[in-house]
Amino acid sequence: MAAEVIAIASDHAGVDFKESLKTMLSEAGRDVLDLGTNSPDSVDYPDFADALTSAIGDGRAERGVLICGTGIGMSIAANRKPFIRAALCHSATDARFARQHNDANVLILGARTLGIEIARDCLGAFLDTEFEGGRHQRRVDKMSG
Ligand code: RB5
Repeated sequence: MAAEVIAIASDHAGVDFKESLKTMLSEAGRDVLDLGTNSPDSVDYPDFADALTSAIGDGRAERGVLICGTGIGMSIAANRKPFIRAALCHSATDARFARQHNDANVLILGARTLGIEIARDCLGAFLDTEFEGGRHQRRVDKMSG
């Protein structure tokens, strides 16, 4: 089976976080699809949310990470697509439950509201936690299609 691809994208506010988290993903042996942005020049977060969610939709990536200043804009934009379950997380506990109970396929982080170490903890929990299924599957199914 092919290795899971993790897509990552940010706006200008999240570009430093993106680089740091990309390094973490590579060091963990993950296949990474970097969808930008790649400079501090101002860009619009919906464009990057769309690029990442499209990559999940067409199968180029299985899961993703989106970063903006607060994570709020990216959350609103990413969750417009019915197959996306994007979770804005502020702790590893948030990220763990987002996987266990919500089967989140996109982790959202705020670069202006989190420290990088918390962000790394969130990413670790997001990557390493499985969906529990069962009663949670029924609830997730009610949001699909
Ligand atoms: C960009 O200044 C900022 O608005 C954006 O990164 C994000 O926080 C939006 O929700």
